[in-house]
Amino acid sequence: MKRNAISQICWFSLLLGLNSPYLLAAEGPAVPAPGQSKDAFIRELMQRMTLDEKIGQLRLVSVGPDHPKPVLLEEIAAGTTGAVFNTVVRPGIRDLQDAAMRSRLKIPLFFAYDVVHGHRTVFPIGLGLAASWDMAAITESARISALEASADGLNLTYSPTVDIARDPRWGRVSEGFGEDAWLTSKVAAAVVKGYQGKGLDQPQTIMAGVKHFALYGAGEGGRDYNTVDMSPQRMYQDYLPPYRAAIDAGAGAVMVSLNSINGVPATANKWLLQDLLRGQWGYRGMTLSDHGAVKELIKHGVAADERQAVKLSIKAGVDMNMNDDLYGKHLPELLKAGEISQSDIDNACRDVLAAKWDMGLFKDPYRYLQGADPVDTDAESRLHRDAAREVARKGMVLLKNKDDVLPLKREGTIALIGPLADSKRDVMGSWSAAGKAFQAVTLLEGMRHATRGKAQLLYAKGANVTNNPDIIKYLNEYNTDVDIDPRDPKVVIAEALEVAKKADVIVAAVGEAQGMAHEASSKTNLHISFSQIELLKALKATGKPLVLVLMNGRPLDLSWEDGIADAILETWFSGTEGGNAIADVLFGDYNPSGKLTMTFPRSVGQVPIYYNHLNTGRPFDHEHPNKYTSRYFDSANGPQYPFGYGLSYTRFSVSDIQLSSAKLRKGDSLTAKVTVKNTGKRAGETVVQLYLHDVAASISRPVKELKGYRKLMLKPGESKVVEFPIREEDLRFYDSSLRYASEPGDFKVYIGLDSDDVKEQQFTLL
Ligand code: BGC
Repeated sequence: MKRNAISQICWFSLLLGLNSPYLLAAEGPAVPAPGQSKDAFIRELMQRMTLDEKIGQLRLVSVGPDHPKPVLLEEIAAGTTGAVFNTVVRPGIRDLQDAAMRSRLKIPLFFAYDVVHGHRTVFPIGLGLAASWDMAAITESARISALEASADGLNLTYSPTVDIARDPRWGRVSEGFGEDAWLTSKVAAAVVKGYQGKGLDQPQTIMAGVKHFALYGAGEGGRDYNTVDMSPQRMYQDYLPPYRAAIDAGAGAVMVSLNSINGVPATANKWLLQDLLRGQWGYRGMTLSDHGAVKELIKHGVAADERQAVKLSIKAGVDMNMNDDLYGKHLPELLKAGEISQSDIDNACRDVLAAKWDMGLFKDPYRYLQGADPVDTDAESRLHRDAAREVARKGMVLLKNKDDVLPLKREGTIALIGPLADSKRDVMGSWSAAGKAFQAVTLLEGMRHATRGKAQLLYAKGANVTNNPDIIKYLNEYNTDVDIDPRDPKVVIAEALEVAKKADVIVAAVGEAQGMAHEASSKTNLHISFSQIELLKALKATGKPLVLVLMNGRPLDLSWEDGIADAILETWFSGTEGGNAIADVLFGDYNPSGKLTMTFPRSVGQVPIYYNHLNTGRPFDHEHPNKYTSRYFDSANGPQYPFGYGLSYTRFSVSDIQLSSAKLRKGDSLTAKVTVKNTGKRAGETVVQLYLHDVAASISRPVKELKGYRKLMLKPGESKVVEFPIREEDLRFYDSSLRYASEPGDFKVYIGLDSDDVKEQQFTLL
């Protein structure tokens, strides 16, 4: 029967003079003919697709209670599904792809996952990666993630997260790369390059899905999913560039954010998804809604019901609908009623098919499932521990080091105390979805390896990460992530004090549980928990040198800790090799070189606080304090630790700035030059930073903007000359009519080792 039908179509196509492979086999698999172009293939495939099959391509679902696997397999075989996420082992993926190969047109599925800061091997959270200021290391971490994820059969990651954030109350600051658009843009491109390599046609690559488009990090009050209301200048200047950088680097997918922007939810925002993304930026890839976002248009108050929510999102340009079946349910009737057009569906379908083409799935639906399945998905041999250790230690930031208490000597007795010292789950961080906590190295384990046979290491937990029952309930809502010692906190502290008293130095591992710095984990208090503060007070009272090792996913209020600790090392959530990497830094096997990419405030009351603010008409001057200036009367204005800040075990000096010219003509460039010297006794790396300031422009410009940096390694006593080119392009900004241009006039140049500690020069743009 089938043969007959095919030969009839064959004849028919010959009569028409067509040689399309699809006319030859309308029921046959979607496989490109040799030499066929992407556009021609997709055009012809779409001609063969029914409306339901096209709509099916827009469905992005996960296997789970809402979509039990047996049901989903049938749905896939019926051609109703475009992609699946959250299935992360090859047999599971193969089953689903097999089902797609049973569908009429055999259009392959793609498989997505949140590979956010590593896959099987877990790297530091975004803030930690960015703090390395080392783009090669960041690319390498993404390359390894792609290699491991593609080996599991995955094709797309919901990453990088490039949301600029200036509010540490928001738990997802942990995932992004900080507060600066220029630096985050560099990191975004580095990550995309790592995932996608030289092209998705190459093996061991995965498609990057940049998120959350757009402005998700600017929710009011730091509350997750909250409203964003922002001037166009701030958007274009300070928040949008990293998304664009990821797209320019080739990111194949864009995930649409859950927030509204000036009253219009991103998921229904035509201006955002069409005018800006496709129109102004020329984006040609696929867009995905965030989880359940289409339906949320009802709660946002822009759609009366599901039907209208679907209409708004497809018309806005949301190609795929994540994890509900609303597109399938409502698109056919919306089309029938003439409320949407066929092209709305076709455009979305085309983007999805194009992404699948780019992933190479039409050539081989099992392309990512080559070779034998690993006998053990979690096999140790699959991990990349050396790279994880190297990247983790690069991102650690030394915040304080009084009297060079660090590095620790491998001698005497060291007390390691704290709720995070031996927590495998926490050191992995929040989006370590496919990483296995049992494979993580805790600080206790890392310090044991580092001190074995040399120094005595004692350990006590000392406190729970929190004793607040509501917070414990919150943290353990889905999994028991936090083990709570049920004893009286005083007993737990007393036990730790016994240990501390025997030691020459105390290392206290404190901070946050990983679950506190995640999605849906906004908080109003930036202190570490009361239980840990009580512990630190007791430890301080011993009079022994006190080193804090912080694990946390956001800038904290460390004003009190800074006063009592001798040394503070910010280690973020540092991943699979975290404990070894921290030990490397503590014992000086690695000299810390990380620098903050997000300002640490003195108190939550200063938030939002960021280095590239405007000056105001009444800036506070701490050398000449004046009541009627822009300040707080109960706190200093500046941060606890500024953007770009981080110490080393050696010292560096930066000379005065020499400019190659005091004048810059459009089309020309000038050079700002400093000599950086290692004035200490150890070899070390530092990040020299260049900031610019437009003194008088048509709109107020930030007091400083990062425009360049160099990471240098210097031996003791060694100096290097660092030259930064400054071009007219570096001076451009979006003016009040969103014209992106520079304006003639005076500019300040600042170069230094953080955003506060800088030398200054000036030039004029003619
Ligand atoms: C998050 C996304 C994530 C998605 C899928 C959402 O809740 O906002 O960042 O990619 O879930 O896991």
